[in-house]
Amino acid sequence: SSLKIGLIPADGIGKEVIPAAQKAIEALGSDIPKPEFVPLLAGFEYFTRHGEALPEETVSALKECDCALFGAVSSPSRRVTGYSSPIVALRKILDLYANIRPVISVAANPADKPDVDLVVVRENTECLYVKQETITTTENGREARATRLITERASRRIGKMAFELALDRPRKHVTIIHKSNVLSITDGLFRETVRAVPQLPEVNGRFDGITIAEQLVDSAVYRLFREPQIYDVMVAPNLYGDIISDAAAALVGSLGLVPSINAGDDFVMGEPVHGSAPDIAGQGIANPIASIRSAALMLRRLGYAKGADRLDKAVDEVIREGRVLTPDLGGHAKTTEVLDEILKRI
Ligand code: NAI
Ligand code: MG
Repeated sequence: SSLKIGLIPADGIGKEVIPAAQKAIEALGSDIPKPEFVPLLAGFEYFTRHGEALPEETVSALKECDCALFGAVSSPSRRVTGYSSPIVALRKILDLYANIRPVISVAANPADKPDVDLVVVRENTECLYVKQETITTTENGREARATRLITERASRRIGKMAFELALDRPRKHVTIIHKSNVLSITDGLFRETVRAVPQLPEVNGRFDGITIAEQLVDSAVYRLFREPQIYDVMVAPNLYGDIISDAAAALVGSLGLVPSINAGDDFVMGEPVHGSAPDIAGQGIANPIASIRSAALMLRRLGYAKGADRLDKAVDEVIREGRVLTPDLGGHAKTTEVLDEILKRI
């Protein structure tokens, strides 16, 4: 049997790093089922030519795949009529309700204890990302409003995902991120629901050994910078999770290193945390490591731990050696040169 992997490079450096991840997966040989890659279109550039950012063929082809890798989209900050982000849409369509982002520092000396080894588990379907925004004109001038949705169902399943991940980690510690001192109803529901997960009858006491802490999102960012080693699994509603995971990425040197997966019960999509990086796109200097690590996370979630370990180990060695690195890590190497170093070690 084969492993059908959808590839959606989309925009900017997505087109440079996703092919690199494809080559890394191909190098795994018999550690995974024979990969069959399905190239798929989406993105802002596609939108400017075809008037849609996520063609129906891409969605239906994805449904036939076992998993997928997504590059990045150049979503404009201004509102563009008819455009909406394909990655946000895909998370909804495929019900990829968890965004999982491990942030790990790879020490220069392998004997050093890494400072940061945490994973951000971000709810992926609700919060302000339901994008229900309205604008009206009032006596105060224009008035804009956004709906923030938090449900018990989504909070419970993201909570379960966080505890599940904590079970496999040495420290078995979950920190719930919220702001329920201000938003006592929405964040209050999130916090309460996640906290109650270990007592759910269906989890059968499996999470009893996990310690739980909670923290307001603002002080969580502060402590993330002061003492990141206190965190193990951080679980958060969508917007806080988005911000915290990018902030955590800064602790380990570059967005170009940090991977993620979008996971549901039936599908997994790997996605580097970074965007399309228009400032360096087309120069061949994008760091491919976040994408290769995203491929590893995706394979691990599908049960191919051995293949995933080989990818991670090869990447870690290249970072530690520090000889061949892209400019975001202070090096002078091209994307392809870093990839070649990684391929040699796989
Ligand atoms: P960005 O992540 O694209 O870039 C931020 C900075 O990090 C830039 O200086 C960039 O050169 C650098 N960087 C990012 N990835 C890198 C890599 N692999 N190697 C080396 N350097 C790297 O974020 P920015 O500039 O805020 O957004 C650019 C575009 O990307 C926007 O249109 C935004 O909407 C989109 N974006 C898309 C995301 C997605 O597809 N999930 C996520 C974040 C942003
Ligand atoms: Mg982000």
